[in-house]
Amino acid sequence: MNVAIRAAVRKALYHELEVYGVFQGFAGLIEGDISPLDTHSVADIIHRGGTILRTARSEEFKTPAGREKALQQLARRGIEGMLVIGGDGSFHGARELARSGIKTIGIPATIDNDLYGSDYTIGFDTAVNTAIEAINKIRDTAASHERTYVVEVMGRHSGQIALWAGLAGGAESILIPEIKFDLERVCERIVSGFKRGKSHSIIVVAEGAARGEDIGSYIRKKTGLETRVMVLGHIQRGGSPTAFDRVLSSQMAAYAVDLLREGKTGLGVVVQEGGLTTMGLEEILAGEKTLDVDLYQLADILAM
Ligand code: F6P
Repeated sequence: MNVAIRAAVRKALYHELEVYGVFQGFAGLIEGDISPLDTHSVADIIHRGGTILRTARSEEFKTPAGREKALQQLARRGIEGMLVIGGDGSFHGARELARSGIKTIGIPATIDNDLYGSDYTIGFDTAVNTAIEAINKIRDTAASHERTYVVEVMGRHSGQIALWAGLAGGAESILIPEIKFDLERVCERIVSGFKRGKSHSIIVVAEGAARGEDIGSYIRKKTGLETRVMVLGHIQRGGSPTAFDRVLSSQMAAYAVDLLREGKTGLGVVVQEGGLTTMGLEEILAGEKTLDVDLYQLADILAM
């Protein structure tokens, strides 16, 4: 998100617009935690994860009274347009701003990559690469000790990180909330793999599908094999962004600034067929992202 903030600020300044940063998300918008940003405000953040603007959940913004306060803060400063960077919750807030007459563009950023309409969201690639790096390291121990490892990755409602990390990390099985899984089959696959000479097994599970601990104890009991569990947790939400995420964030934010300059509102910037385009915030929020089943099946075939 820092890369998107940097790009938005600098692209806007390039067009001689005045730029403000809203700190602490919608909560800060209500409180007026808003400061001018210049090119130096966003210097030296291109390699840093997270957001220099910080973020906060806001129950108050969900109420008409809260939103009215936010609108007053914007009016007081003569702010005419808003860029909202975030996932589902942020996009709901962005839609409310657009409905209230503030020109608003959403920039999708969530490690879960679960926002409808966009093939990729900011942070996903970095999170997947963090998970793969962990799996690579775990694989060394797993192979040396002939163990089975269950690696739990993030994704409360989405198996995207698990699917990508599982395929790219060479997992034997991938358990995700979108697809029903059969633990008997998972165990059979582990046992037959060992019989065929495999030195280890790695199972990737999305937190929304099951607890890694529960899967680990099931496999342990069923197979009698030494099975360890690793919960990756919040390390997936931080760290230096990958080159892909940096380029994507820069392009998305610059495009969003252009959309505001053209007077557009109520839109989200999305990636489709390899390029950037827009989709209405209403449509994005009404839709449900479906998982790439072909990719899941490919991962299953390659894990033989
Ligand atoms: O929405 C992104 C996400 O990373 C989910 O995958 C995860 O379950 C959740 O956020 C964790 O949120 P929190 O840090 O609030 O527990």
